[in-house]
Amino acid sequence: MPVDSTLQDAINRHINAELYSSYLYLSMSTYCDSIDLPGFAHWMRIQSEEEYTHAMKFVDYLQDRDSRVTLLPIEQPPVEYDSVEDVMRQTLAHEQHVSVLINDLYGVAVRASDYASQIMLQWFITEQVEEEKTARDVIAALEMVKGRSDALLLLDREMGARPAASPIATDVAA
Ligand code: FEO
Repeated sequence: MPVDSTLQDAINRHINAELYSSYLYLSMSTYCDSIDLPGFAHWMRIQSEEEYTHAMKFVDYLQDRDSRVTLLPIEQPPVEYDSVEDVMRQTLAHEQHVSVLINDLYGVAVRASDYASQIMLQWFITEQVEEEKTARDVIAALEMVKGRSDALLLLDREMGARPAASPIATDVAA
């Protein structure tokens, strides 16, 4: 059974928000590369890929529900940042914003009495807790190494060890 039109529109807007997240983190990755932090650049590139998989989960979900996907224009992300700390603080702020969007989407699904969508969204609610925590942990690590370039280089090496994002999964529980 298709999702109702209000929920379909809201999910389509959210697909755009996830694709913007992917675009934003790709831009941050290129900034980190430009300031000679290849580990952070790698970490952000993986983050960008992960956001793309989030968008695809919603695309697959609408298709599974015999509903229509509408791809909206993606806004241009910022190009320049003040520092790698600024990048991570903006990452945390963005993830907090996405958490609000997911909660709002859940509210639309509740008002539509769409239980399947509520179950699908629970994966994203849990994921947002993890996304915010990860950004906070990296900010804390950056605060600890502040002013010590040798420690920053070690942290950058650690960030560079992040494994690749999981392949795109059509199952939202994956
Ligand atoms: Fe897909 Fe980082 O939220």
